[in-house]
Amino acid sequence: MATNRTFTMIKPDAVEKNYIGGILDKINAAGFRIVAMKYTKLSKEEAGEFYAVHSERPFYGELVDYMSNGPIVAAILEKENAVADFRTLIGATNPAEAAEGTIRKLYAESISANAVHGSDSDENAAIEGNFFFSSLERF
Ligand code: PPS
Repeated sequence: MATNRTFTMIKPDAVEKNYIGGILDKINAAGFRIVAMKYTKLSKEEAGEFYAVHSERPFYGELVDYMSNGPIVAAILEKENAVADFRTLIGATNPAEAAEGTIRKLYAESISANAVHGSDSDENAAIEGNFFFSSLERF
């Protein structure tokens, strides 16, 4: 059964460029409620663990280096059909292929520095949310 929560990160490129406010505005305007949020920075080990599912892919090292390179904003979002609707809102992984009006079209610069992460399944949304937030930090 689909759950109504997804997990997101505003990535180091977007934080560095002061896009946090603009991205959160888009998220709120699309009807998502923020149920947990933190500004933090991943160590290389933590980024490696978070992206372990991609450890065999050729870009894994680059992805881990990039995601541990600067602060991020992590959040759990709530809305009906959250995972699929959020993936639509952020657009394609490669911003060159992202649809007009999507967060990546507006704010991302490349396939690695692509502004935001969005969980790809309900199962991963729960795993990823638990990676960053304790039960005391979700409302
Ligand atoms: S997805 O969202 O899992 O379907 O996308 P996918 O294409 O499988 O990519 C998974 C994450 O890896 C990042 N990525 C890359 N980083 C660096 N270089 C290259 N070439 C590259 N291709 C994909 C991509 O931004 C995804 O990160 P997240 O945080 O999951 O969005």
